Amino acid sequence: MNQHHPADDAYDTPDRADAAYTAHADESDADADDETAVRRPAGVAESVAASRHWWDRNADDYQREHGDFLGDDRFVWGPEGLDEERAGLLGPAAGLAGQRVLEIGAGAAQCSRWLAARGARPVAVDVSHRQLQHARRLGAGGVTLLQADAGRLPLADASFDLACSAYGAVPFVADAEQVFREVRRVLRPGGRWVFSLTHPIRWALPDEPGPEGLTVAASYFDRTPYVEQDESGRARYVEHHRTLGDRVRELTRAGFRLLDLVEPEWPEWNHQEWGGWSPLRGRLIPGTAIFVCVADAPAAGRG
Ligand SMILES: C[S@@+](CC[C@H](N)C(=O)[O-])C[C@H]1O[C@@H](n2cnc3c(N)ncnc32)[C@H](O)[C@@H]1O
Repeated sequence: MNQHHPADDAYDTPDRADAAYTAHADESDADADDETAVRRPAGVAESVAASRHWWDRNADDYQREHGDFLGDDRFVWGPEGLDEERAGLLGPAAGLAGQRVLEIGAGAAQCSRWLAARGARPVAVDVSHRQLQHARRLGAGGVTLLQADAGRLPLADASFDLACSAYGAVPFVADAEQVFREVRRVLRPGGRWVFSLTHPIRWALPDEPGPEGLTVAASYFDRTPYVEQDESGRARYVEHHRTLGDRVRELTRAGFRLLDLVEPEWPEWNHQEWGGWSPLRGRLIPGTAIFVCVADAPAAGRG
């Protein structure tokens, strides 16, 4: 069994992201057999350690399974397939040239690659060494890769014009407000922060793509984390739930103003299932929430 990677060891340089693309599927499958899913508290350090471990073990499977849909240099906001080319949530694509953009929870940095192709200067941050190796494999030309925890960004104040994240980091951290404060700190005033995550309503429903995923089975108001843990009780995967109202309050307290909340509808052309996301459910209930914010207030608690 692999050891936890302590959160304070999360500041490695991207130089480590240089190994060949090999499969870890056997190891992750073996580990998964010993894990049970529970709802229980999970703190900041435990959540970061679990994420780093889980994404290191499962990055190969994730990229193999979803890489074609994501595209090597597309910017896809979620399983519905809405992309930034069409949505323009970061502003007009023509205005991206020269912009300093922070992407958090970047995975293989497909979004950053799309941004770089439009002349932006992206920094792609991820806690998982293995995900960043995939970014290297795809070719990180024009993209700076940085291994770090989104809650402790080793980046200078006001050093970015824009920040974005497609399902990265935010759903996996115990203290999302701390992540938002960090993003606010490194953004210049007036900079946009746009991020997507699982639509909070999905937490009331079983995570199943079929009809069984359409019947309420849990309270939308239960914020207890979802945890997969090993036999010793150590968290191996953690996701955190907040209601829509919680997210708005976290963002406001961190110094952001919400401009828009986009709930992409399931398009006719998209026939693929992605975990609990499916055409059946997508036609009836939202699966993704995209928060479009602007940093127009001083960040609370900045020193
Ligand atoms: C669902 S993947 C999304 C990756 C990419 N944005 C995409 O669309 O494919 C979530 C990513 O968040 C990263 N992540 C999780 N917790 C994190 C944290 N605390 N700090 C930085 N990245 C984190 C994971 O390593 C993983 O690469």
